[in-house]
Amino acid sequence: MPSGRVVLVGAGPGDAELITIRGLRWLRRADVVVYDQLVDPLLLTEAAGSALKIFAGKSAARHCVPQAAIHGLLIHHALSGRVVVRLKGGDPFVYGRGGEEALACRMVGVQCDVVPGVSSAIAAPAAAGIPVTHRGLSSSFAVVTGHEDPAKPGKRVNWERLGTAVDTLVVLMGVATLPVIAARLINGGRDPATPAAVVRWGATDAQESVAGTLADIAERSAHLTPPAVIVIGDVVNLRDLLPGGETSTSAGATCYADFAARK
Ligand SMILES: C[S@@+](CC[C@H](N)C(=O)[O-])C[C@H]1O[C@@H](n2cnc3c(N)ncnc32)[C@H](O)[C@@H]1O
Repeated sequence: MPSGRVVLVGAGPGDAELITIRGLRWLRRADVVVYDQLVDPLLLTEAAGSALKIFAGKSAARHCVPQAAIHGLLIHHALSGRVVVRLKGGDPFVYGRGGEEALACRMVGVQCDVVPGVSSAIAAPAAAGIPVTHRGLSSSFAVVTGHEDPAKPGKRVNWERLGTAVDTLVVLMGVATLPVIAARLINGGRDPATPAAVVRWGATDAQESVAGTLADIAERSAHLTPPAVIVIGDVVNLRDLLPGGETSTSAGATCYADFAARK
C-alpha cells in the first residue's frame, strides 16, 4: 500500500506568515508541492529543496492548468507514494475548488486531508482596518462570488435579495463586475450611501485600498485590478480608526462617534 496522500493546505491571503502551523508542517514534509497563483513565493522556500514544485497557475482570471489536469497530477503523485501538498491561496474551500480536488482524490481511493487557511474574505478587509462584524454596526456577513461560473445553469447569486439580507457583504472576484453588482444591490433596496471599499492585494506589501459609497465605489476603484475583495457595509467606516486603515477622512470617526453616542 503506497503511503502517498494529498493534503490541501490553505496558504493564507498573501503574507507567508499567515499560513497555519499545521500547514507549514505539511509543506516541509512534502515531496511534491502543487501551488497556485496567489500563494506567496516565499512559502515555497519552506519546502524541501528536493521537493518537486509545480505551478498550477490558478487565479480568478487565468487557469493555466485545466482543473482535470490538476486532479490528475495530484492523484498521479499520490499513487506513486508521494506526499503531495496542494497549496492554495486563502482557504482551500473558499472559492478554491478544494472540494472538487478532495472529491477527485477520494473517488480513486487517494487519502486527502485538508488544512484550513486564513481566507482573504476576512483577512484582506482586516488588513485594511475593516472588521467584517462589529458590535452595533454589523452582526452578519456574507461572502459572495462576483464571478459566477458561466457554465452554471441559471444565476445563483440573487444580488437584489442579498442587498438587504446581511449587514456586511464581502465580494471576491468581483472587480470586473462591480458596476453591475452595485447597481443590483441598490436596485434591491440597499442604501446607495452605504460605505464600501475595495482592498487589493490585502495583507501583502502591495496592499492598496479605496473607499467610497455603494453608489460611487465602482468609479472610484476603476483603476484597481485583481486580486481584490470588495466590502460593503457600515464597518467600512472603521478603517479610519483601526490599524491598517489608510484614509485620513473624518467619515469613519464621525460614523463611530454617532454609533457610540447612540449606545
Ligand atoms: C479563486 S478566489 C480564492 C479565494 C481564496 N481561497 C481565499 O480563501 O482567500 C481568488 C480571489 O480571492 C480574493 N483574494 C485572494 N487573495 C487576496 C488578497 N491578498 N487581497 C485581496 N483579495 C484577495 C480575490 O477576490 C481573488 O480574485
